[in-house]
Amino acid sequence: ETLYQLIDHLEANQTLSTSEFVRLLSAFKDKDLQNYLFEKSRSVRHRYYGNDVYIRGLIEFTNYCKNDCYYCGIRKSNPNISRYRLSKEEILSCCASGYELGFRTFVLQGGEDGYYTDGRMVDIVSSIKSQYPDCAITLSIGEREKESYQRFFDAGAERYLLRHETYNREHYRFLHPQQLSARHRQQCLFDLKNIGYQVGTGFMVGSPGQTFEYLAEDLQFLKELNPQMVGIGPFIPHHDTQFRDEPAGSLELTLFLLGIIRLMLPKVLLPATTALGTISPLGRERGIQAGANVVMPNLSPVGVRKDYSLYDNKICTGDEAAECRMCMQRRMESIGYQVKVSRGDSLNLEQTN
Ligand code: SAM
Ligand code: FES
Repeated sequence: ETLYQLIDHLEANQTLSTSEFVRLLSAFKDKDLQNYLFEKSRSVRHRYYGNDVYIRGLIEFTNYCKNDCYYCGIRKSNPNISRYRLSKEEILSCCASGYELGFRTFVLQGGEDGYYTDGRMVDIVSSIKSQYPDCAITLSIGEREKESYQRFFDAGAERYLLRHETYNREHYRFLHPQQLSARHRQQCLFDLKNIGYQVGTGFMVGSPGQTFEYLAEDLQFLKELNPQMVGIGPFIPHHDTQFRDEPAGSLELTLFLLGIIRLMLPKVLLPATTALGTISPLGRERGIQAGANVVMPNLSPVGVRKDYSLYDNKICTGDEAAECRMCMQRRMESIGYQVKVSRGDSLNLEQTN
């Protein structure tokens, strides 16, 4: 089979074998092949989502973290950042300005911060839900007990983002300290799904030690989990981590993977991430053109944005929420897409697990 036939095959069957994925990924630099893939992934995207781009208001509410992921700038053992936590009132005020700007999904993301006990999270989630009943709340606060996930769900959180980071156990261990395991993280994802969350997972592209084989396993895992959302973005080094001298992940490979994922999971919600916009000025636009259909502008208070420094040179850290929102609108319109004011639920809602 030629590589073009592999793409046809992927489109027809929504999957490939692991070795076929490896073959395809190995050819990601081939421009003609990229164009062939993107034409297909764009047309599948248009079939289900037209020219709409969904927006999510990202609220980075704490940069305290008990974990020590080797790639991450806000890891526990980085002494060189100033730590912050937003109060419930501050979070609600982010939601208020977000609502005015047309956001109908709020994503609460943070490090794994013990200050936000189950009780405090339930209070925050239910307060947002009662003030903005027409909005969806997405949590992204890492690994917790299934009982905790259930309590957040009962309080009104309907979606959860937890990237699996890498499926391969050895690679996972290479990127994380001993106490963290690929298996436990994957278990959390199945727990979340069983509770009834719309689940998002994903991984960094070009993380240190990553191979095409590992990426192929990541793709197989996506197929198995069948999530409603998939967040992928390039790894970008942070100067205070042990991976400071590692190269960033590539734009081309990230776009290629977005195209593949769109063909694998036609209805999935697929963000063009901030990291993609950080490695290339038009990265997010190109992500949309490769099959992505979500953007997540920042709603965090400007005063804390630079402290949520997962990686170096993160964009949008100096802009007001309104500026980011308008900037995003202009960017999407410049490529013929429109930002949609709605909750933007996934069409991929059949629960298969
Ligand atoms: N603590 C929660 C968790 O672990 O899921 C949410 C916050 S965590 C900082 C969000 C995501 O940031 C991670 O899933 C990881 O993929 C990404 N990330 C961390 N460091 C990064 C880096 N150096 N480059 C690109 N992405 C990074
Ligand atoms: Fe905790 Fe990254 S080490 S969010």
